[in-house]
Amino acid sequence: MSSRKSQDRDLPKAKLSKESLKRSMRLFRYMSSKDRWLFGLGTLFLGITAGASILFPKLLGDMMDGIFIYGKDGVSQAPDQSKLEEIAQYFVYLFVVQAVFSFLRISIYVRVTEGMTFGLRKDLFRSVIGQNMHFFGTQRTGEILSRFSSDIAQIQDTFTTNLAMFIRQILIMLLGVVLIFNTSTTLALYMLASIPVVIIVALFFGKFIRSLSKEVQDITAENNTIVEESITGITNVKAYTNEAFELDRYTENSNYLRKESIKRGYWRGAFSSFIIVCLFGAIVWLTFMGLGMVRDGQMGIGELFNFMLLTTFVGTSIGGMAEQFVQIQKTLGAVERVLDIIDSPTESNDSNNELSSLKGLHFKDVSFSYPSRPESEVLKQISFELKPGKTTALVGPSGSGKSTIASLIYQFYHPTSGEIIMDNKPVSEYDLNQYRKQFALVPQEVILFGGSIYDNIKYGRPDAREEEIHQAAKEAYAWDFIQGFPEGFNTLVGDRGMKLSGGQKQRIAIARAILRNPKFLILDEATSALDSESEFEVQKALQTLMKDRTSLIIAHRLSTIKNADSIIVLKNGLVLEEGNHESLMQLSSGVYRQMIEKQLEPTDFFN
Ligand SMILES: Nc1ncnc2c1ncn2[C@@H]1O[C@H](COP(=O)(O)OP(=O)(O)O)[C@@H](O)[C@H]1O
Ligand SMILES: [Mg+2]
Repeated sequence: MSSRKSQDRDLPKAKLSKESLKRSMRLFRYMSSKDRWLFGLGTLFLGITAGASILFPKLLGDMMDGIFIYGKDGVSQAPDQSKLEEIAQYFVYLFVVQAVFSFLRISIYVRVTEGMTFGLRKDLFRSVIGQNMHFFGTQRTGEILSRFSSDIAQIQDTFTTNLAMFIRQILIMLLGVVLIFNTSTTLALYMLASIPVVIIVALFFGKFIRSLSKEVQDITAENNTIVEESITGITNVKAYTNEAFELDRYTENSNYLRKESIKRGYWRGAFSSFIIVCLFGAIVWLTFMGLGMVRDGQMGIGELFNFMLLTTFVGTSIGGMAEQFVQIQKTLGAVERVLDIIDSPTESNDSNNELSSLKGLHFKDVSFSYPSRPESEVLKQISFELKPGKTTALVGPSGSGKSTIASLIYQFYHPTSGEIIMDNKPVSEYDLNQYRKQFALVPQEVILFGGSIYDNIKYGRPDAREEEIHQAAKEAYAWDFIQGFPEGFNTLVGDRGMKLSGGQKQRIAIARAILRNPKFLILDEATSALDSESEFEVQKALQTLMKDRTSLIIAHRLSTIKNADSIIVLKNGLVLEEGNHESLMQLSSGVYRQMIEKQLEPTDFFN
């Protein structure tokens, strides 16, 4: 079952190189020394069950020789009752050994594998959340997720099943071939001349069919994408009355899927005919030759039976090995991808510069381009200061780099050139966790995580008490709407929960910031989604919050800007004007002055 599941997983394979094998040996470091010892023991048990299963044909053959009148020398024999009973006893031993050791082997392998993937998962997650923003900007979320789902599941499957089956198949093949030759060399040579050839041809045939299946899989994936896109974008589909268009798109693809699947069906039919004709043909032919040898007294009927069963065992093992091999190759690929992430350096937190107080920030000739778009410079050698305890407002057209400045302060990214200085030291020299703990950010686009409103506010300071959380909600003017929900603070929000309006989400984010009580506050158009009435209220709350705190307000409302201690006008990544309201109003042809004189809000003025 599980190998079928992993076939569907369709992960890329890795080259079976010495390095990739060596690298995947690192997985064993995720096993405790006791587990490694257990793993060895489990493998020994695996050998025992493989050996026991290959004894099965031998015993059956012996049993037949015991009752059949065609004995080894072609002479008729009387059925030997005591021998039969003895063999029956061996069967019982064999099954008991098989049952006990299989149970032990599987339990041990699962236990060891789960221990290993537990550690692997944890390291992977630790490394993922420790990556810098560049990583998240360039990797697709689905890709990262599949490291956790497909890759880890692949490793799990291989360690619990595929590896065991592969070892078992090799053992059965080796032991089987020895026993086959031991039974009858002549017939063994006949066998070697036919069965492996059939199996090898079948493997190639199988590979061809798999490539057809891959094609069908791709079309199926496309088919699902159409459904997914239509459903996630259902508002658009309906608003543009494009139902018919989507249906056409879907029908066309489904029809293609139908045709390709039928084509694959023909080949699968042909494959199964081939197996019937060739493989069963070979077996019939072997039986025919073998029976001739029995007639001529060269072997007993039981021996022939033993031989035929062994041949089937060996044949199935060889046939199955290819699939296990593919799975192991895929696993090597999975291990490499997982270890690549685990090994990539995380944001460093190893500096010893403790933060005592935050004395404002100084941008010194900072230039910046996003790593994903190095050719376009977002900030061009800008310099300005954020004075301690003061409020600095940042205005400018959208796309001028305001949010980027907030990201640089947070050290989500680092300047391409120039420096951001705090207390005479570049900010990158401080312990990153300590540094970020000084801030609270109300981002432009608030994303709440799945959970209750209560937990979402608490995220600002996980050790906060209930009264503090309620107080923060009140100060952010979120109390009333929260109480308006039937479940109050326990209302679930996020992907699966209640959909909040933009303004409600912003107020929750503001409550979060209030709760955090930071030294440094960054508000990125924090009230842009509020209606003017609640904005007025929240504005008052923010005013209290900003008092005596170093704040950077990326503002879209005049009211916020006018009161700021310092105003920076940004355009195309350059600082156009800097000063307070009065000094900027002195500039006769200043941008800020024009905006005020036209009585326009920044959003309307600039865009
Ligand atoms: N993660 C990102 N990767 C690449 N380019 C980005 C990214 N975020 C923003 N940009 C680009 O940087 C410029 C400034 O964006 P931003 O700082 O968000 O502007 P603002 O906040 O002033 O509207 C824009 O041209 C935008 O397209
Ligand atoms: Mg922005």
